[in-house]
Amino acid sequence: MDLLLHQNGRFRKLAAAMKITDVLRAEHAVFHNLFDHIEASVPKLKTLGEVKALAAVVDKVHAPHSKLEDDLFIEPLEPYFDQMGQRETFHAEHEHIESTLIKVQKARTLKDAKKILLQAIAASRKHFDKEERIVFPLAERILKAKTLTDLGAQWLSRRDPAKK
Ligand SMILES: [Fe+2]
Ligand SMILES: [Fe+2]
Repeated sequence: MDLLLHQNGRFRKLAAAMKITDVLRAEHAVFHNLFDHIEASVPKLKTLGEVKALAAVVDKVHAPHSKLEDDLFIEPLEPYFDQMGQRETFHAEHEHIESTLIKVQKARTLKDAKKILLQAIAASRKHFDKEERIVFPLAERILKAKTLTDLGAQWLSRRDPAKK
């Protein structure tokens, strides 16, 4: 699958025909590890600042991930969600996760901050599971194969350190 290209004196690795949905699944794998770590470490934290710092990390990495999903999927998939009778779309869930993470920053006590952060993680896990089971397979049925791989290639080129 992977292709190694030698260009401008350096090796560049290109994943041949990687679908954007596979890129998102790979990002999800990283989030699952992060969520495991947070759930295990939050009960042991002793200061409000530590809990807020963890919530800020989740927010920083989740915001670009959810923006990418919104940009890609809202328009093409919304009518299908309506047909499926989904009251809460994945977009509304993104907003819910973001607003819960913001609430952590406003918490006044360690106990409240921990409780709200763990609620945000639980909501995220539920949301990620729904995307993996419903949203990504739906996107792969509705969007053309070439669109999925073109978007995957665009994503890779945006993240290419050689272009920064
Ligand atoms: Fe999402
Ligand atoms: Fe996602």
